[in-house]
Parts: sequence; structure tokens; C-alpha cells
Amino acid sequence: MQMNDKSVGIIGIGSYVPEKVVTNFDLEKIVDTSDTWIYERTGIRQRHVCAEDQATSDLGLEAAKRALADAKVSPEELDLIILATVSPDTMFPAVACRVQDALGAKNAAAFDLSAACSGFAYAMTVGAQFIKTGLYKKVLVVAAEALSKITNWEDRNTCVLFGDGAGAVILGEVEAGYGIIEVELGSEGAGANLLHMPAGGSRRPATPETVAEKLHSIHMNGNEVFKFAVKTMGESAVRSIEKAGLTTDDISLLVPHQANMRIIKSAAKRLGFPMDKVFVNVDKYANTSSASIPLALDEAVKSGRIKKGDTFVIVGFGAGLTWASAVIKWCKED
Ligand code: UT7
Repeated sequence: MQMNDKSVGIIGIGSYVPEKVVTNFDLEKIVDTSDTWIYERTGIRQRHVCAEDQATSDLGLEAAKRALADAKVSPEELDLIILATVSPDTMFPAVACRVQDALGAKNAAAFDLSAACSGFAYAMTVGAQFIKTGLYKKVLVVAAEALSKITNWEDRNTCVLFGDGAGAVILGEVEAGYGIIEVELGSEGAGANLLHMPAGGSRRPATPETVAEKLHSIHMNGNEVFKFAVKTMGESAVRSIEKAGLTTDDISLLVPHQANMRIIKSAAKRLGFPMDKVFVNVDKYANTSSASIPLALDEAVKSGRIKKGDTFVIVGFGAGLTWASAVIKWCKED
């Protein structure tokens, strides 16, 4: 997709993680695993986990407030809120509507978008279109997950991998040549059952049996998702860079979905990127699905790894199966 004419970019960014930290050593006490296994296979040391009374909208709200403050935009100025999640407070209504209410963004339309770990890049792309067409001026994109609430804490194959958190950006028109330069979104629905929540929807509504079988939690074929991720991340990033008419030499930083250090390293290798040009924080937060890229992006900006004029790439993959990448030229001063 060519993104010419009006330049649209991120004019504010924020993130939030809940206070409680669960380390690999804590997990050793509840499932048959070890810090060594988790760290060597994934690069994860710890994850943040919601309090009992915290839900996805609570995390998204905090990230949204921080992004608004960073952009110096008031809630009333927002025309639209798009919230990406796979762990909504409830099946409906949209989490975005709860965030809209809590922010007092009374002029904003609001809806949720489901593209799992690719959700942030999908939502950012959708939001940018509203600005490019001139329909809206300011769009809040939130990616928020309370994955701990849909995790089977008895399944060592999945419970060691995920964490909770949220990231948010404000999109607006930016200086010509800056902002979102190129994007690629993709889907391979044949892999839908490789990573999913089997029950609780219209295919298999909740029953005492589905609860007893723990079908209301994340189920994953880790090996197949791993193969998909390794192939897709590198390829999609390369395509986005090429479509932008750039080469990897023009890219100052890769901000990948933080699922697994081995997947990140293989994507970097495919791009011919040294690891010092790759942003990694999977050790601190584990895989926070849609929130992982904006969480990483916020840290990269706040730590000075991304500065005005830098061109960087975000790339993710996830349930669907989906993938997404984008080339962005940062337009904000420090
Ligand atoms: O955002 C997208 C979400 N999904 C992903 O990113 C997941 C992608 N996949 C992966 O990251 C990797 O496939 C995993 C980290 C999930 C698994 O790593 P792996 O190197 O593919 O291990 P494996 O599944 O082949 O399992 C190797 C062994 C097995 O034991 P046996 O059969 O060899 O005896 C597992 O039962 O490791 C065992 N195992 C564990 N051992 C200790 C699986 N989970 C654990 C665990 N602790 N937590």
C-alpha cells in the first residue's frame, strides 16, 4: 500500500504496565519449569501481571492518558479511538468505548480491532487512513492486553510466555516526508487454530465442560507459530523497506514484536541487522501481544534510541495468523 500525499504520524506516545512482577523463579513454584529453560528458549526473565481488579481497559486508559499528555492533545480533541486487543474486558461492548468514557473523549467514535500481536500496526494503519482522507484530525490508537486473565496457569507451554501491558499513540498530520512512510499488513487464516482461544464465542459457547477443559484460555502450537514467525517477520520487514524505496542501511532501528529472543534474532539476521540496531525488552515484559510494539517503541523513544529524523521499522506477527510491518520516520522533537 502506497502512503503518499498527506503525511500522518505519531505525535504522542505512552505506555503502562501493571505494578505486580512475576519472575521465572515465581513460575518455578507453580509449574514444572525453570528460569534456565525459560530464559534460554525465550529471553524472558519476568512479566508484569494485572491486579485481580484490573482489566484491559484500565491498562489502556493509563497508556492513553500518557500519550495524550505527550502529544499535548486534550481528550475532547480526539475524533476516533481504535483499541487493539485479544483480551477485552468483556466480549462486548468494545474496550475502546470504556476508554472513551473514562477519558471524557466525548467527541470520539470508538471501536476495537482484533489482529492479535499485529494489532498495533493494524490499528495504526487503519487510524492513519481516517486522517489521510481528511475525515478526522486526531486519532488515539491503544493496544492493551490483560493476557494473564486468559492464561492457563497450569500449562507450562504457554503460561511462561505472556505478560500484561498497554501502549498508546496519538496520530495526526505531521511535517511532509515524516510519519508513516510505508506499511504491509498480511493474514494467513489457514493457521487460525494454531493460536486461539477455543471456547467462549459463537462456535463453542461457554458451558461447564468448556470451563472444566480450560478452553477459555490461550491454546498454541508453539513450534508451528515459531516457524511462521521466523519466516514472516524478516520477509515483511524487507518488503516494507523495499516498498519505501529504502535499504536496510537507511534504517536506524528495528522494533520487533517482543515474543521470543530467538525469533527476534532470526528476523534481525534475515535483515542483516546487527543486534545493536534491534530494540529488545522481552526480558522485562514477556509477550504482551498487541501492546508489545508500542511498549517497546515508547521505551526506545524515551531512552533516546529514536530521535527526530530517524527512520525505523516496526514488525509483528501473531494469531490469525497475521503479520504487519511499517517504516516510520520519527517526527517528534525530544
Ligand atoms: O505472539 C505470538 C505468540 N506465540 C509465540 O511467539 C510462540 C512461538 N513459539 C515459541 O516461542 C517456542 O516454540 C516456545 C518458546 C513456545 C517453545 O520453544 P521450543 O524450543 O519450540 O520448545 P518445544 O515446544 O519444542 O519444547 C521442547 C521441550 C518439550 O519437552 P520434550 O517433549 O522435548 O521432552 C516441552 O515439553 O521443552 C518442554 N517445555 C518446557 N520445559 C520447561 C515446554 N515448555 C516448557 C517450560 N519449561 N515452560
